[in-house]
Amino acid sequence: MQTVESERIRALARGVRDDVVAYRRYLHAHPETSFHERETARFVFGELASFGLEPEHPTPTSVVARVKGASPGRCLAIRADMDALPITEETGLPFASQNPGAMHACGHDGHTAMLLGAAKVLSAMRADLPGEVRLLFQHAEELYPGGAQELCDAGVLDGVDMVIGTHLWLPLSSGRIGISAGPLTAAPDSFSIEIAGRGGHAAQPHLTLDPVPLAAQLILALQQLVSREVDPLRPAVLSVTQVHAGTADNVIPDRVALGGTVRTFDEDVRQLLERRIPEVAQGLCAAFGATCTCRYQRGYRPIRNDAAVTDGLARTLRAVLGEEVVEPAVPSMVGEDFSAYQERVPGCFFWLGSRNEAKGIVYPHHHARFTIDEDVLETGVAAFVAAALHLL
Ligand code: NI
Repeated sequence: MQTVESERIRALARGVRDDVVAYRRYLHAHPETSFHERETARFVFGELASFGLEPEHPTPTSVVARVKGASPGRCLAIRADMDALPITEETGLPFASQNPGAMHACGHDGHTAMLLGAAKVLSAMRADLPGEVRLLFQHAEELYPGGAQELCDAGVLDGVDMVIGTHLWLPLSSGRIGISAGPLTAAPDSFSIEIAGRGGHAAQPHLTLDPVPLAAQLILALQQLVSREVDPLRPAVLSVTQVHAGTADNVIPDRVALGGTVRTFDEDVRQLLERRIPEVAQGLCAAFGATCTCRYQRGYRPIRNDAAVTDGLARTLRAVLGEEVVEPAVPSMVGEDFSAYQERVPGCFFWLGSRNEAKGIVYPHHHARFTIDEDVLETGVAAFVAAALHLL
């Protein structure tokens, strides 16, 4: 790629910088949780229409638009998620959430703003563009079964050759890009176990079947699945995150309810834990005469970046943003429903660093004081525009 062209792409992104920051702040102030992104979708639809595009709502709270180039060619889809989280914001920012109990605490406001910025740039340069760029403004990334699967089922990938997306990423410093072929995010499964004993007077435990110590043993036994049964070179997380029992200090309860999450990259490790959690729970309960019911819910599939798409995108990003800002991506045990698109077409999802310690932007994703470094938004716009110009 020519240096001049790289400079041009960066200048185009810089040209919409103020718009993109304004989009982000508007969206940040008006967050809507998964499957409820009505005003967000309306806003995005209106902006896209103002660029001369013809957006559609494939589902009630999502928006898709096509930027058709002047010459025939391939089709690249770029995805941004738009949903917020049920968190009460504590950032104190002047554009903090005006919707009580909802907050853009994962950066999806930034994703939507960056893709709107790219849409503005690309819609003004259709004459230079071969093929088609399809802009996917997706609802409900945060809530299983997720918006990506619904959009796939609605046919938004029909005719698409490849798909890309990014996540503003606090583990990575501002402006840096993490990109690698292969696994990037885990399968985020969840489980629940209800142990049924027999309650009674806390002073007479011998007359009861106390489920509380059983639950305590079970929590430790489940940790042993990861430490003793999973290959130590294969990632797995098992976290018990909910324990509910009891109503009084002097009453042994009838039941204990446990809940938690399992994160894996590999299908065989996932199957092992899916099988062994109920086996261990039932065996342990049976040993003490109790019973239990177990439920295991599979979540999103892991993201696996396609080698060819990733290679092409990484080359483009190095050329446009600079060799020094692009590094191999460190995978994460978080879940991402971008994987649903990759079941249909080859794709690549990359991290866009947005941690800035000098500005105090250090709180993790899903924290009430989470925010992003707005200076990286134009980097994201440049990445999307560069991808459109060079992958097609
Ligand atoms: Ni997110």
